Amino acid sequence: MKRTILICDDEKNIRSGLAMAMELEGYATFAAEDGAVAWDYLNKHDIDLVITDLRMPNLSGEALLKKIVSAYPRLPVVILTGHGTIETAVEAMRMGAVDFFTKPVDLDRLTLVVKKSLSNNDLYAEHEELKKEVAQLKARNKYDRIIGKSQKMVNLMDIVSQVAPTKASVLITGESGVGKELVADAIHELSNRSEGPFIKVHCAALTSSLLESELFGHEKGAFTGAVALKKGRFELADGGTIFLDEIGEIDASTQVKLLRVLQEKQFERVGGEKSVSVDVRIVCATNKDLQKEIEKGNFREDLYYRLNVVHLDVPPLRDRKEDIPLLMTSFLTYFNQENDKHIEGFAPAAKRALLAYDWPGNIRELRNCIESAVVLARSTIIEPDDLPPAVSKAENPALLSLEVGMTLEEAEKRLIVSSLALCGGNKTKAAEMLGIGRKTLHRKLQEYQIDQD
Ligand SMILES: Nc1ncnc2c1ncn2[C@@H]1O[C@H](COP(=O)(O)OP(=O)(O)OP(=O)(O)O)[C@@H](O)[C@H]1O
Ligand SMILES: [Mg+2]
Repeated sequence: MKRTILICDDEKNIRSGLAMAMELEGYATFAAEDGAVAWDYLNKHDIDLVITDLRMPNLSGEALLKKIVSAYPRLPVVILTGHGTIETAVEAMRMGAVDFFTKPVDLDRLTLVVKKSLSNNDLYAEHEELKKEVAQLKARNKYDRIIGKSQKMVNLMDIVSQVAPTKASVLITGESGVGKELVADAIHELSNRSEGPFIKVHCAALTSSLLESELFGHEKGAFTGAVALKKGRFELADGGTIFLDEIGEIDASTQVKLLRVLQEKQFERVGGEKSVSVDVRIVCATNKDLQKEIEKGNFREDLYYRLNVVHLDVPPLRDRKEDIPLLMTSFLTYFNQENDKHIEGFAPAAKRALLAYDWPGNIRELRNCIESAVVLARSTIIEPDDLPPAVSKAENPALLSLEVGMTLEEAEKRLIVSSLALCGGNKTKAAEMLGIGRKTLHRKLQEYQIDQD
């Protein structure tokens, strides 16, 4: 659909000249001879941008601008000034005009300003659209902190809402930063234990003896320093949920005790004889491959089966890139508020880069990336330069310059060197990128005496 520009000037020649210029650029136009006519038209039709003179009969340009800013704050207004005191034009900018032009108007620059204002407005509209989608998604999901509309995430959340109300133990796996802890939160929140305690234990952070007394508590005098009885996390979690993060890190003796809790719902405090009974739902997470740990003898198979009654695997972000736009928008909104910023959206090139990048650190990395972009952004739009180099580079393939006159051999050599560099020295990846076998690459490296460091 054609965008419509409203041109307002009391001089007929200027009206028709500008209208013609804008129509040549593919816009529809409407011309008004004073502010009152323009205002009337504006209220009845869809207008995408206004170009207005300042001094006019009936309703002046300043008065028109003032009305527009309060009624249609997103509508861009470009000011023309004939009697050219710059001060009034500057005042108009301060009131919210996007730019001003002194007559005679430089049409090339005007066209540019019009184009840019309209595309900024498009970005804004797109951002608003996404914000709406995020809100809808949150309303639909009973658990609103997990954002994602990819089929993979929808399926995962379906299983979460199915298993949450049961008492089944859940093992959550997935790479670092995919949202395992968030899934654990959801399981507790959506369970009928949500009013009960939710206790989180980061198993890798504690040495094995500390972990044992942390989990199961200790009796007074159990060891030096145990001056009083201390309840463990399992007791504290009674009636609720315990989340054991990094479960792959726990040692053999804690594994035995844990197995007993799962089988008999009871345990003894360190240094104690008396059994303590608890009603606790266990949720675990790991980014290790527990099957492998079992093969290596580091993890008990019987414990694994007890913990893994329901298995939830959270997919890496690169396998569900369709979630990226929603996540970007929701993090942008969050960090705008957090930092009192008013960034409106992402430049197309920045968006392409965010979509092209592989996100080895998954959602945590994306979140950090948007946070720093919000803090660093110099304009109201996030540009590729505001993103970390690794991300902004993802959009532009590295270029190689070849001079005509060089030998084919030299060209091949340069391409190999650059590909290797792009793959961080990884020969398997470089060979794949070049479409040759690893052996062939090796031979060429030797042949061309390429220094492999
Ligand atoms: N689907 C999502 N929607 C919104 N935020 C998310 C989502 N997934 C993860 N996050 C955010 O990303 C960050 C990392 O998530 P989380 O800590 O749950 O990952 P993790 O899988 O437990 O990582 P690790 O293995 O490193 O412990 C958190 O700030 C979390 O709020
Ligand atoms: Mg975690």
